[in-house]
Amino acid sequence: MNLIAALIAVLILTLSALGIAFSATLSFLLTAILPYAAFTVFIGGFIYRIVKWAKAPVPFRITTTCGQQTSLPWIKNNPLESPSNVWSVMGRMALELFLFRSLFRNTDVAIVGQRPVYGSAKWLWFFGLLFHWSLLIIVLRHLRFFIEPITPWIKSLSTIDGFFEIGVPTLYLSDVAIVAGLTFLFLRRMTVPRLRYISLVTDYFALLLLLGIVTTGLLMRHFFPADLLHVKNLALGWVTFAPAAPKGVGTVFYIHLSFVFTLLVWFPSSKLMHMGGIFLSPTRNLANDNRMKRHLNPWNAPVKVHTYEEYEEEFRDKMKLAGLPVEKE
Ligand code: HEM
Repeated sequence: MNLIAALIAVLILTLSALGIAFSATLSFLLTAILPYAAFTVFIGGFIYRIVKWAKAPVPFRITTTCGQQTSLPWIKNNPLESPSNVWSVMGRMALELFLFRSLFRNTDVAIVGQRPVYGSAKWLWFFGLLFHWSLLIIVLRHLRFFIEPITPWIKSLSTIDGFFEIGVPTLYLSDVAIVAGLTFLFLRRMTVPRLRYISLVTDYFALLLLLGIVTTGLLMRHFFPADLLHVKNLALGWVTFAPAAPKGVGTVFYIHLSFVFTLLVWFPSSKLMHMGGIFLSPTRNLANDNRMKRHLNPWNAPVKVHTYEEYEEEFRDKMKLAGLPVEKE
């Protein structure tokens, strides 16, 4: 049901985009007004969520550790598995960000006989990494529409990405990779019963929306070419605050844009916010120096303490009567 609902949502978006393509007023709205509205919601929403998370109290050091913490000089510590200073935290965070290190440890469990048997499960790590890296490369390559003259590094990135020069126009490696990554993530959700059970409409929607963006992009590049000169004029119009409705960009371009703007607007309220949230995860961004420093909860309310001495002072007679041992006679 959840999958069908997500499919219907994407279908409605596609049909709306088709409607937009055939109406001059609506296509003006999509190409001249919506870009600013979507971008504002994206940036505003992103900042709002980050500030909200950043303000959340973190009274305890709850670092995730998988190795020996820094302690006595003759005990070998593991700075990456149990970071005790800011540099080690940054090292561990970088490995997490760029290589999805914790996902590399993903394990699978199966009940064999009566016993749980754990095995390595690297596919999620591999395809997850493939998807995220290729998305980043594609977004960076898209900067060519927004910058004039195109900076050399964007040109180099495109050249390397199209290194094998397969077909005309060249098939980008990142396009193949993103299709492979998204297809794996989608099929995994559909075919693994446990995962299907916990999957929400929004889980499918995120994957289908991204697949929609990629498919329409590929259609434009290889089957229904959009006039790239007009696209570039449009994109430059956006960044110079002089947008003009483009002509001759093709229907697929409108669908591509509608999907992209939907993604931008939905992003801040979706689970895709893990893009920013990863930096604010206390289990990862804190150093495990609990034995080196005494951390006091800054939000501790002042507590009136009652020491044992005071307690005994107050109840000594009663304790003696009850036959309880006392420290002072
Ligand atoms: C989340 C943002 C976006 C994603 C993930 C995305 C993805 C893609 C992909 C995968 C392709 C296939 C070819 C390639 O990799 O270059 C593509 C092509 C294309 N995209 Fe996007 N896109 C995004 C945003 C945009 C925006 C904002 C525009 C408007 C300027 C745009 C315009 C185009 C055009 C014109 C093509 C055809 C390029 C060609 O023929 O070489 N895309 N897009």
